Amino acid sequence: MENDIKIAVVHGSEEVNLEVPNNMGLNLMEFLKANDYEQIEGTCGGMALCASCHVRVLEVSPALDEQSDDEYAILETLPVVYDNSRLSCQIKLNTNLKSIKILIPE
Ligand code: FES
Repeated sequence: MENDIKIAVVHGSEEVNLEVPNNMGLNLMEFLKANDYEQIEGTCGGMALCASCHVRVLEVSPALDEQSDDEYAILETLPVVYDNSRLSCQIKLNTNLKSIKILIPE
């Protein structure tokens, strides 16, 4: 539907295309957990404290907001971090977002 956000999830060799309405008040971590991506633990419940919801953003429309200082600091605690690393709990699935393609790191 017109108000749905397209979400492509790459994990290993698999790519899955999903959609979610933009008015459900979810963040991407919650959406991934609801879709049984067990690699996304979300241990801190979306408080930007644990980095267990780390994803890499491959494509996005329109652009995401800049990382907050807190998000940046937590990502830096990971053993490997990439230019496109983000905390999925900090990505809001709202009317600002049209589509996103992410990779779940191994
Ligand atoms: S759920 Fe803990 S940082 Fe995202």
